[in-house]
Amino acid sequence: AVDIILAESAGFCFGVKRAVDETLKIQKKYNKRIYTLGPLIHNNDVVKHLEENNIFSISLEEADKLAEDEVIVIRSHGVSKEVIDRLTDKGLNVINATCPYVSNIQKKVNKYSVEGYNIVILGDKNHPEVVGINGWCDNKALITSDGTFETKLPNKICVVSQTTERQDNWQNTISSVAKSSKEFLAFNTICSATEVRQKSAYELSKEVDIMIVIGGKSSSNTTKLYQICSENCENTFHIENEKELDIDMIKELKHERIGLTAGASTPDWIIQNVTDTLKNNL
Ligand code: F3S
Repeated sequence: AVDIILAESAGFCFGVKRAVDETLKIQKKYNKRIYTLGPLIHNNDVVKHLEENNIFSISLEEADKLAEDEVIVIRSHGVSKEVIDRLTDKGLNVINATCPYVSNIQKKVNKYSVEGYNIVILGDKNHPEVVGINGWCDNKALITSDGTFETKLPNKICVVSQTTERQDNWQNTISSVAKSSKEFLAFNTICSATEVRQKSAYELSKEVDIMIVIGGKSSSNTTKLYQICSENCENTFHIENEKELDIDMIKELKHERIGLTAGASTPDWIIQNVTDTLKNNL
């Protein structure tokens, strides 16, 4: 018999799963077409699944044109306070599915900017999460992607990080802030979801004959998982869904133990489909 083993942590992180589940639940409750401000997740299968459930992604400009009482969901990345107020003032029914870890950063930034601290965010200035966080301190944050700053840093500083940042980037940022600032607060707000997912893929790939990594071909976190697994298991394959499984080829290889992992935008049902296809065909 073939042993199919799923990595301890794989696929959606807590915050994304929560947002997707919540949105499906809210749609059932109102039983009409509802909206999300931007796609909940960058995965075509998921977008299609949501549309089949009467859940559609729209832009802020489109949201402005909605009638009163329409339901709009804020995704896990969160948004600025201004955006929430703008939607609420329009009379829309705003459901906030921001990941609690991200809300926590927004609250910190808000609190300390009010107390006179200059906010520094380590992260990608164009990423919606960072744009949203900056919106909780009047868009005045200094944003750095690597711990370097173009201008001299002010004194009183409060540093936070985008949740998906790398630990070494955080350390660089803290040391450059420490060099120039006498008074600073630092909150390491990096979320461990990515690291934990990578670690469990690493462990599992050491023990299996074949390792299958599920996720979008252009998803960077999936590609990273693929690289990590390839180092331990020479028969590592990257697929988007069960249709891309090459069963004949797998049969030719030693396949007593097959490991599975999945990138951050892969829902449970795709992981399940892959598992079922393997079970039914091997
Ligand atoms: Fe996911 Fe929330 Fe962490 S959205 S990556 S659990 S910050």
